[in-house]
Amino acid sequence: MKKIAIFGSGKGSNAENLIQYFKENTSVKISLIVSNISNAGILSIAKHHQIPSVVLTRKQIANDVNALLELMKVHEIDFIILAGYLLLIPAELIDQYENKMINIHPALLPNYGGKGMYGMNVHHAIINNKETQSGISIHLVNREYDKGKILFQAVCPVLPNYDAALLANKIHDLEYKYFPKVVEDWIGSI
Ligand code: GRF
Repeated sequence: MKKIAIFGSGKGSNAENLIQYFKENTSVKISLIVSNISNAGILSIAKHHQIPSVVLTRKQIANDVNALLELMKVHEIDFIILAGYLLLIPAELIDQYENKMINIHPALLPNYGGKGMYGMNVHHAIINNKETQSGISIHLVNREYDKGKILFQAVCPVLPNYDAALLANKIHDLEYKYFPKVVEDWIGSI
């Protein structure tokens, strides 16, 4: 049984989708939800599914990174999934989960990645620049954050009538469709 922790700062719709997908799975278990935001939607989702959850703020992690490492140890976490997690991951954790930490990015990396490029910022930038396509990137996390090995990308058109909110919906649809399967395949491959 491989145990997974999902880290998220927001609504948690990808977490919900992953939880549903792996519900009956006998080799993969979503065992822990971690958030830096005490009222994030992802925590209600954890509660609803009776999955343990922990809030660790930016300050708490900065003061004591060992608390985070210890948390992973206590819950025997094998893989970490970042699903809309907005804090920088400490290098110690990245090193410990080399090839075992997966992020989803709502654009086609290497474009629209890096500093400031998260959440709606990405979609606003794509609309402002009149891009004709966007998509999702599912990638491993290394110390250069958005530059880890890309496991999977899917493209969607950006039509002239799209605004950032509509694009975000289209991107979410792609995420729901592909993220769980890509995670499952990667876990199964190593
Ligand atoms: C997703 O679009 C993800 O790609 C991005 O943040 C969003 C999180 O949405 N990094 P949710 O919390 O899973 O609903």
